[in-house]
Amino acid sequence: GRRLTIRDLARAKRRGEHWPMLTAYDAYTAGVFDEAGIPVLLVGDSSADNHLGYDSTVPVTLDELIMLGRAVVRGTKRSLIVSDLPFGSYEESPEQALRTAVRLMKEVGCGAVKLEGGVRSAAQIEKIVTAGIPVMAHLGYTPQSVNGFGGPMVAGRGADAAKRLREDAEAVQEAGAFAVVLEVVPAPLAEELTASLEIPTVGIGAGAGTDGQVLVWTDFAGMTPGRTPSFVKKYADLRGVLGDAARAFGRDVVGGAYPDAEHSFS
Ligand code: KIV
Ligand code: NA
Repeated sequence: GRRLTIRDLARAKRRGEHWPMLTAYDAYTAGVFDEAGIPVLLVGDSSADNHLGYDSTVPVTLDELIMLGRAVVRGTKRSLIVSDLPFGSYEESPEQALRTAVRLMKEVGCGAVKLEGGVRSAAQIEKIVTAGIPVMAHLGYTPQSVNGFGGPMVAGRGADAAKRLREDAEAVQEAGAFAVVLEVVPAPLAEELTASLEIPTVGIGAGAGTDGQVLVWTDFAGMTPGRTPSFVKKYADLRGVLGDAARAFGRDVVGGAYPDAEHSFS
C-alpha cells in the first residue's frame, strides 16, 4: 500500500467527501491513528504545549519538531504526514521558509508542510511550492501569534475581519497551497470559503461546512488536563484510563499483589 497524497484530498473535494485529520507527536499514537484510517496526520507545533510541556507553540524548535516527525513517519504506513513549520523558521524570507521546508522533507520524510498566515506568508508558500513541496496554509486564529493577539480568539468576526480572511484565503490558494486550515472561524464564513475555494478547507472550531476536520489528539482523546476549547468533542477519557491504571499498579505494588506467581519466573 502507498501513502495518501494531496491528490487524494483534491479528489475528495471534487466528490464532496469529508475527511478527518488528527495531530500526532509519537510513533505509537500515530500508528493507532494510521491503523484507524485517519488519512492525514499533522506533526503540529501544538506538540509544544500538548506533548513537550511548553506554555504555547512559540518556544518549540525546528530540531524538536523534526525528532517528533521522524517518530510519526516511522510509526505509520498509509497516512499523509504533514509537518508544521515552527514559529521563527519561515517569517524572515521565502528563502528561510524553503530551507526549513527542505529540512523537514529530507529529515522527517513527511509528505507536506504547513505554515501560518495568508497574505503575509504568500511569498513563502509560493517559494516552497515551486520547489515541489506541498504546503498547507493556516488561517483564522493562528496560535504562533498568541502574544500578538493577546490570547485565543474567534477570527473573522465582523465585516472587516471577514473581508481580510477572504483575502488571506484567496492569497494562499493563489500562492499554490493545496489546502487551508481555518481555526476558530464563524461557521457561515468557513462554509462560504469552502464553497468559493478550489482547495480543501480543514476546520477546527469552524463548524460543519469545511471539507476536513482537524483536532489536537490530546484534546479529542481526553488526555489534556483541565479545560479544552468548547469546540472540542472528547471521544475518550484517556487521562482517566491511564490515571486509574497507574493508581491500580501503585496499590498492587504497595500491597504486594504485584508481581504474583503468574508474572514471575520460577
Ligand atoms: O499545531 C496544530 O495542532 C495545528 C492544528 C490545530 C491545525 O496547527
Ligand atoms: Na500548528
